[in-house]
Amino acid sequence: MNNFILTLDNIEDIAEAILELYPQESVYLFYGEMGAGKTTLIKELCHQLDVVSGVTSPTFAIINEYWTQQQEPIYHFDFYRIEKDQEVIDLGVHDYIESGHYCFIEWPEKVDHLLKPPYVVVKINQLSPDTREVVCYLES
Ligand SMILES: Nc1ncnc2c1ncn2[C@@H]1O[C@H](COP(=O)(O)OP(=O)(O)OP(=O)(O)O)[C@@H](O)[C@H]1O
Ligand SMILES: [Mg+2]
Repeated sequence: MNNFILTLDNIEDIAEAILELYPQESVYLFYGEMGAGKTTLIKELCHQLDVVSGVTSPTFAIINEYWTQQQEPIYHFDFYRIEKDQEVIDLGVHDYIESGHYCFIEWPEKVDHLLKPPYVVVKINQLSPDTREVVCYLES
C-alpha cells in the first residue's frame, strides 16, 4: 500500500512514482468522488507516457483512445453513466483489459464485479480544495 499527498504542483512527480511502482501492470482502477481528481491524474499519467493526442474526459464516450509517441494505444474509460453490465461487456472491456495496453478506468465501482485482477487500485480522497490523498495498491 502506498500513500501520497497530491497537489497540482507535485502531480508530475506523483504520476511518475505511481508508474514506477507498478512497471508490470497495465490496468488501473481510479476510485474517488466526483471532482476528486481522477481525470486530472489520468491526464498526467498519459502525459508521462508520452501521449501525443489530447486527453479529455470520456464521460460521454465511455471510452477514449489515446496514442503515445511510440504508437502504443492507451484506453481511458469512464463508467459513470453505465447502467447495465451488458453495456460494458458489449464494449469489449475484457479485450481491452487483456490487451496489455494501459487501461485507466474511472468509476470502476459501477462494474468492478466484472473486472478481474490483477489491477492497480488508486483511491483519491479530497483533503482540502487543493490537496488529495492518493492510496494505491496492487490487487492480484
Ligand atoms: N491536488 C489535486 N489533484 C487533482 N485535482 C485537483 C487537485 N487540486 C485541485 N484539483 C482540481 O479538482 C478538479 C478535479 O476534477 P477531475 O475532473 O479530475 O475529477 P474527477 O474525479 O475525474 O471527477 P468525475 O467523477 O466528475 O469524473 C479539477 O478542476 C482540478 O483542477
Ligand atoms: Mg473524471
